[in-house]
Amino acid sequence: MTQLVQPPDANYLDTLFGGRLVEWIDNCAAISAQRHARCKVVTASIDDLHFAVPIRLGDIVVLKASVNYVHRTSMEVGVRVERECPRTGETTHAARAYLTFVALDEQNRPLTVPALTPETPGERRRAANAVTRREFRLMRRAALATEPPE
Ligand SMILES: CC(C)(COP(=O)(O)OP(=O)(O)OC[C@H]1O[C@@H](n2cnc3c(N)ncnc32)[C@H](O)[C@@H]1OP(=O)(O)O)[C@@H](O)C(=O)NCCC(=O)NCCS
Repeated sequence: MTQLVQPPDANYLDTLFGGRLVEWIDNCAAISAQRHARCKVVTASIDDLHFAVPIRLGDIVVLKASVNYVHRTSMEVGVRVERECPRTGETTHAARAYLTFVALDEQNRPLTVPALTPETPGERRRAANAVTRREFRLMRRAALATEPPE
């Protein structure tokens, strides 16, 4: 997915508003998840998000998503974000995010997703790393569920 940073996307520093980038990441990842599952999907969680470089007004933002891993009803989608300078074409890594989507049936209940078979070495590496991230994510979810609200 490619976006141009326009004035409504920018903050008072004339750089991309973080919340807008999260919206684009979520959209891009949701399209990938839907293309795999071919049904409704909902974002269950977004892992840590670090903004490595500022993205300026007028820059081009390139988002690349891939379904890394499928469990039963959930999928991990990774999104790589690049900042592209419109004049030179130079690209810089700007952010990376991992999102979990859950497939839903017509009654909005979690639905089993078609299996994913990694084929290339890169796909196998991404799937293996996703398994580790899933374990940490679910532990974090369980910890949050037991934390008393402040
Ligand atoms: C995501 C949601 C559908 C999960 O429903 P649930 O009743 O908790 O379902 P389950 O406990 O059976 O979990 C279903 C799957 O979701 C995964 N899951 C649930 N919460 C998760 C979380 N916070 N992070 C990652 N995965 C999660 C489970 O691991 C399970 O995966 P699996 O079937 O592949 O093993 C439900 O919590 C929900 O609707 N949340 C709101 C989603 C939303 O509104 N998103 C937009 C935010 S603005």
